[in-house]
Amino acid sequence: MNKIRIGLFGFGVVGQGIFEVLRKSKNAHAQILRICVRHPEKPRTVQAAPELFTGSAEEVLDDPRINLIVEVINDAEASYRIVKEALLRGIPVVSGNKTMLAQHLPELIRIQKERHVALLYDASSCGSIPVIRNLEEYYDNDLLLEVKGILNGSSNYILSRVFDHRDTYAHALAQAQKLGFAETDPSFDIEGYDSLFKLVIITVHALGTYVAPGRIFTYGISTIHESDICYAREKGVKIKLVAQVVKVSDMHFTMFVMPEFVTPSKYIYSVDDEYNGVVIRGECYDRQFMFGKGAGSLPTASSILSDIMARLHDYRYEYKKQSYIQKPDYTTDLTLKIYVRYRETPIFDVLHFERIHEQYTSEESNYVIGDVRLSELIAKRPALGSRDLFLANIPIFFLDRDN
Ligand code: HSE
Repeated sequence: MNKIRIGLFGFGVVGQGIFEVLRKSKNAHAQILRICVRHPEKPRTVQAAPELFTGSAEEVLDDPRINLIVEVINDAEASYRIVKEALLRGIPVVSGNKTMLAQHLPELIRIQKERHVALLYDASSCGSIPVIRNLEEYYDNDLLLEVKGILNGSSNYILSRVFDHRDTYAHALAQAQKLGFAETDPSFDIEGYDSLFKLVIITVHALGTYVAPGRIFTYGISTIHESDICYAREKGVKIKLVAQVVKVSDMHFTMFVMPEFVTPSKYIYSVDDEYNGVVIRGECYDRQFMFGKGAGSLPTASSILSDIMARLHDYRYEYKKQSYIQKPDYTTDLTLKIYVRYRETPIFDVLHFERIHEQYTSEESNYVIGDVRLSELIAKRPALGSRDLFLANIPIFFLDRDN
C-alpha cells in the first residue's frame, strides 16, 4: 500500500486530533477522504472542508477509494457495527474504542483471521503509550510475569489533585471533564471500567487469553474519603487506581482493577496527573516501565497515526500467543491483602476475612486490613458497592524482587 485513504468515523476530541496531527505532520502517505458524523451540518472549529462530511456510514464503507477505516466514535454499539461490517467487507480498521473491543475481541479476532484483514487498536489502551504493539511483538509470554499500571488518566488526575494539591474530589472530576480526559459518562473512569476494558485488551496481547470483563474484579475510587487519604499520607504511600494481570504460577494468572497503596519505590508512584504508566515484569529482565500521556486529543491521535502508518507496511496483529500450547489459565482462587474502610456496613457479615492483620475503630470511621480471597471479593461485589466503603489493595506479589 503506498497511499492510505481514510474513511474517518467520529469527529470529537480524538477525531479532530487525528485531523490536526495529519495536517501538522504534512503526511503525504495518508489522507482523510470522508468523515462520517451524526450531524454533518454542525459548525466546527477545526478547518475541515464541508464536503468531507457525511451522515451515512454506507457511503463511506461503499467508497471504493477508501482503503482504511479509522473509527473513533463514542458509542460502543455503533462502533461494533461499523468495525465488524468493515472487516467483513475486507477493509482494514484502526479503532480506539476500548469498550467495544473489550466486549467483542474474540469475534473480531476470528473475523480478522478468516478474512485476512487487519484491525489495529493501540490507541485503545493508554493513549500515546505503544503498549499493545510492544506486548504483541516483543514480550514472550513464557517470560512475562506481570503487566501492571495506571491505565486511566482521569482517575489518576483526580487522585493527584486530591492527594498532592488538596483539591476537592468534585472539583478535580469537573476539571478532568473540562480538559477532555474523562469519558462522556465519567463513572466509566472513576468506577474502574475504563481501566478494566484496557486490561482485558492488554491481557489478550500479553498472555494470549481473553477474559470477559464481567469475570474480573473491578473497584474504583468514587468512595474515597479524607480518612483514606490521611491514612495513606501517614504511611508514606499514595493511592492509585491500578489495573494488573499477574502470573501467579506457571499454570495460572490473575487480574483485577482496584485502588492500591503504592510505595515510593514503585515506578507508578511518580505517575501523576493525567499520565499513564505501565510496568512490564519478566523472569529475566525484572521491571521495565512505559510512561506517557494516556488521554487527550493529540496524544491519542498520535497513537492512531502510528497504527495508520503501520498499515502502510501491511502490519497486522498475528495473535501468536493465542496458539501457544501451554498457556496459563485465569484464576481468582488466591488471597489478596486489602484495606477496607467502613462506617455503617457490617463488614464482617459482608466479607469473609481469612486473617485480620490490623483493625481500627472510632466514632468517625473504621478500617480493617486483612486477607480475603479474590473469589470472595467477586462474589460479594454487589454488597461492596455501598457508599460508606472504600477498598484498597496492599501489594503482595513480587515483594522479594523490588523492595
Ligand atoms: N477517559 C480515558 C482516561 C480516556 O481518562 O484515561 C483515554 O482512554
